[in-house]
Amino acid sequence: MNQVKAFVFDAYGTLFDVFSVIEKCEELYPNKGNQISQTWRKKQLEYSYLRQMMGNYRPFSEVTRDALRYAVEEAGAELTQENEDSLLEAYQHLTVYEEVPKVLKKLKEEGVTLAIFSNGSHDMLDPLVKQSPLAEYLDYVISADDIKQFKPTPASYTHALTFLELKRENILFMSSNGWDISGAKNFGFHTAWINRNQTPVEQLQLPPDTIYADLSDITDWVT
Ligand code: LAC
Repeated sequence: MNQVKAFVFDAYGTLFDVFSVIEKCEELYPNKGNQISQTWRKKQLEYSYLRQMMGNYRPFSEVTRDALRYAVEEAGAELTQENEDSLLEAYQHLTVYEEVPKVLKKLKEEGVTLAIFSNGSHDMLDPLVKQSPLAEYLDYVISADDIKQFKPTPASYTHALTFLELKRENILFMSSNGWDISGAKNFGFHTAWINRNQTPVEQLQLPPDTIYADLSDITDWVT
């Protein structure tokens, strides 16, 4: 634990609550908000995996739009351009989890580097961070779109490592997404799984180094 110089966070589901768009989904599609929100996130990730495997990359902002289109159609509803714009706009105003600002403030005071490393493209990440209470604490926002390789590819984590000019053992990577933690473990980062949804560890033989229910105690990794 004593070599960590940078705390690197996944964005969606880890710092930002992707399901905080559920109210907007429910407002526009009464009684279908939860279904649409859940399918939207599921398809957003699925499309990123599929595009990566096919070698047919498109920015996460487009993948997010496409996943929304699928989710609304699957719910038997109509996605007007106005509703699409409104829901994608809501995605740039996701709420941060309650403990996050105070944890990042404490880490900042400890003098470690703080960064986001996300599959999100800058056109969605930068406005999201700017309107959040986290902008003052984050040193960098690193996007897989910089190299057009989605997590969990080794190439994507290599980009974060190169960007930060550190060694693998100097980086603690945190994500609520088990697949992302498996990818970071596979690559050689220290890993802390933020298991917000109390799900099982992925059966990939790549277990997280540490598991937390939220980010409150992540300062354990500061020496
Ligand atoms: C992220 C999404 C995939 O990379 O959780 O932020």
